Parts: sequence; structure tokens; C-alpha cells
Amino acid sequence: MPVSIRPLHPVFIGEVTGVDCRRPLGPAEVAAITAGMNQYAVLVFREQDIADAEQIAFTRHFGELESYATPGHIRTREEQRLGPGMADFSNLDKDGRIMSAEDRVWFFKLGDRLWHSDSSFRPVPAKYSLLSARLLPSWGGNTEFADMRAAYDALDPRGKAEIEDLVCEHSLIYSRQAIGFTDLAPEELAAFKPVRQRLVRSHPVSGRKSLFLAAHAGAIEGWTVPEARMFLRDLTEHATRPEFVYSHPWRPGDLVMWDNRQVMHRARRFDDRNEIRDMRRTTLAGDAPTIEQAA
Ligand SMILES: [Fe+2]
Repeated sequence: MPVSIRPLHPVFIGEVTGVDCRRPLGPAEVAAITAGMNQYAVLVFREQDIADAEQIAFTRHFGELESYATPGHIRTREEQRLGPGMADFSNLDKDGRIMSAEDRVWFFKLGDRLWHSDSSFRPVPAKYSLLSARLLPSWGGNTEFADMRAAYDALDPRGKAEIEDLVCEHSLIYSRQAIGFTDLAPEELAAFKPVRQRLVRSHPVSGRKSLFLAAHAGAIEGWTVPEARMFLRDLTEHATRPEFVYSHPWRPGDLVMWDNRQVMHRARRFDDRNEIRDMRRTTLAGDAPTIEQAA
């Protein structure tokens, strides 16, 4: 069956049919999905009852897995529920029990409910993220996406000129501070030293410009912090207007792949004290620091 994609939203998001993500893809399928990512920025694959190793293999069709040493003070490898290559976005501890509301790991996870782009706090931010739904709560837990190309396009010429060459500083510390989680150890502060990212990026294939925003952005070079924070807050408000946003109601077996260079996303609430939401992510490494890219 050939790969086919239908839009789920007026400006982005496609639903893919004709692909079994559990099996090796042929070059034509990889090309069709990549073209779909360039156009839609987010693709939804339905009814993929995928295992961890299959998800990793599927992800590798599109590039190299991102690998950064997770600072051991957040959670060591022995304390993790999943194996290498899989990031755990569930509310479960390593024994499969619902995580304590006081767990520091939970505080880090809660920050993902703010609009962000994965790994924008890394020197080379992520390309694609792939999230699969393994177990879903009966209510809530949507993932929302916002199209940063449409948000850029909607700026007036003055707004575009103002941001063209701006460089932001991103750190996990900024997004966690935003939810009042400030109890960070000196090693954590050192591990999450701010990195520089262009505010305007161009897609390497389509050339379309987009806003590179995230809750991780906490400063703009050459600006005072209050000026920068206020500006970034206003710009984020603009970029997440309803017409640029799609809210994904997860179905069992959904696998969603998004391009962190073109969209922001955020997790939404669910009954995390009583229900399990088991989501697992693989992540593709980006090509280069944004700072090396001319806007
Ligand atoms: Fe994320």
C-alpha cells in the first residue's frame, strides 16, 4: 500500500496511512515520510502496536539518535524503567508504580506542560521526536502542537525585521524556574548552563522561516532580562494563538512524529495521581548548532 497523508489541520499536521512502523521501510517510504515531515511538520501514525526496539529502528530511518549524558543526579541509568535510546515520558517509577507527587523527577516532567521544543537547551537541538502511546488515561493527556512557521509568517514586516538576528539563551533551568522548581543542585545548574540559539530558523529543505521558541528561552543577547522575558512571553502568546495550534487526543497505538525545528509542543493535564499514562519517546539528533545557520 503506498504511503498517503491527509491533513488534520489547516496549516500543519498530517495523518499517515500505508505505513507499518514496526517493519523496515524501503527508500520510497522513507522519502515519502520525510517529504511529509517537511510539509506537515507533524505526522500521526495510527494503530502501531510498537515495541521499544521497533520504535528505535523506525526512528533510525530518519537520522542518528540523539545521545546526551543525562545528569546522573536527576536519575541514574539503574533508576530508569526503560532501556537505552528510549526516554520515559510516563508518570511511572522504575518499578511501574505511579511516581510520587514529591519526586524531583516528576517536577522535571511537569515542566513539559509548558510550550517547548525538545532539547532546545542543548548546543545542537533535536531534529525529530517520536512519541508512542503505550497506555493512556481515560481523560486528558493530550499533546498540543503549535506551528512556528505559520506563527513567523503572521508577524508584520516590522516584527520580522526586529527578530531576524536575535540570539536567545536556552536552559532547562529557565523552564523549571517558570513552574517554581528552583531547588537545583550546583551540578544541575552546571549541566544546564544556557546555550545560544537563533530566534529565527530556516528549514534546511523548504527554506521556510520559523520561530525557535521554548519555555527554555530565558534571555536575549544584548537585552536586559526583564525586557527579554516580557518580549519572549508576548511572542509565545502570538505563536500559540488557536489558529496555529492542534491538540492531539491520543488513541491507543498512536505514534506521533514531530519536527522540533518547526513546531513547539506541550503536554496537557490528566489524572496523574490515579491513572497511568505511559508514553515513550525516541529523539533524533539535529545537524548543527542553530547559531551557525544564517536566518
Ligand atoms: Fe517535549
